[in-house]
Amino acid sequence: MPRPILATIHTPALAHNLARVRHAAPDARVWAVVKANAYGHGIERAFEGLRSADGFAVLDLDEARRLRALDWRGPILLLEGCFDARDLELCSRLGLWHGVHCTEQIDMLAAHKTQLAHRVFLKMNSGMNRLGFTPERFRAAWTRLNALLQVEEISLMTHFSDADGPKGIAHQMAAFDAVTHDLPGERSLSNSAGVLRHGKALAERSDWVRPGIAVYGSAPDFPLNSAAAWGLQPGMTLASKIIGIQQLVAGDTVGYGSSFTADGPMRIGVVACGYADGYPRHCSTGTPVLINGVRCRMVGRVSMDMITVDLTPVPAAGMGSEATLWGRSSTGEILPIDEVAHSAGTVGYELMCALAQRVPVVVE
Ligand SMILES: Cc1ncc(COP(=O)(O)O)c(C=O)c1O
Repeated sequence: MPRPILATIHTPALAHNLARVRHAAPDARVWAVVKANAYGHGIERAFEGLRSADGFAVLDLDEARRLRALDWRGPILLLEGCFDARDLELCSRLGLWHGVHCTEQIDMLAAHKTQLAHRVFLKMNSGMNRLGFTPERFRAAWTRLNALLQVEEISLMTHFSDADGPKGIAHQMAAFDAVTHDLPGERSLSNSAGVLRHGKALAERSDWVRPGIAVYGSAPDFPLNSAAAWGLQPGMTLASKIIGIQQLVAGDTVGYGSSFTADGPMRIGVVACGYADGYPRHCSTGTPVLINGVRCRMVGRVSMDMITVDLTPVPAAGMGSEATLWGRSSTGEILPIDEVAHSAGTVGYELMCALAQRVPVVVE
């Protein structure tokens, strides 16, 4: 018998979430962001659910190659562009659009000998101060690119730092518009939070949007809004089973460091899932777990291969009972990945991306 832990990728949920994002920005084309191996879901596994996207945005050439191997003939955008001059040739071979965010990337293009002209997304740093040309330097970069024979098409992009919070996107939109209003080319402006929370402001100003987290069914602005409130469904379920039961009396402790002490008689279920499976070690007592679809709480510390769960709300549970760590239980109850992430002081993105290699995955 294999160890009972299993991750399931939900193809219909991914398709549903993509449609939900489209609904929020109906006039824009959608780059489904599949970097970080489709946020841990696996590019090959997520592909079927996301194939109605207009294009895929990736981080590196390997991800682009994998999409072409799936016979995806449509647009692919290399979000951070080329890391090395040799990559330009591969961009041509794979037919990629690529980001250009710094002078060195323009230098590479200028020195590149090619028959095939490149399609680039010139990136503005409109306030996030990560990648991109500042508004002051943006037009000079555009003019230089525009003069290169190696460049066929220049589109424009920027990335929002605060689309999920009170600061919003207006200041970055203003910086972007002020510099680009009279430049030709398509625009790509927005992540999931921007699309869901500011879709109206983006209408007619973003030819392409770039949602990632929302298509995988996590709320970009949790705990302000839940995935369900945004109409999103879990793209991934992590489930396992109870492999041990302990009956405690008052004063008994559980796990490493004895961090949990029973205040009366209670049953504890030991679930085959630990931090070596990608379950966050920082989850503390109180983190929700579904046992047979019933909300219970994790107690004590997360260990490498196990967690311990208070079975009080589900007295019928026993050896072999289903444990849903996040996602959808077989009874249809949902435990949002965002709640588990929040308990660990992190975000759903990190949990998805950290799903461990040793966890078997099925697609349904
Ligand atoms: C440039 C860029 N666009 C889009 C996204 C997608 O963001 P999200 O997953 O928040 O929708 C990311 C993710 O980090 C990004 O770096």
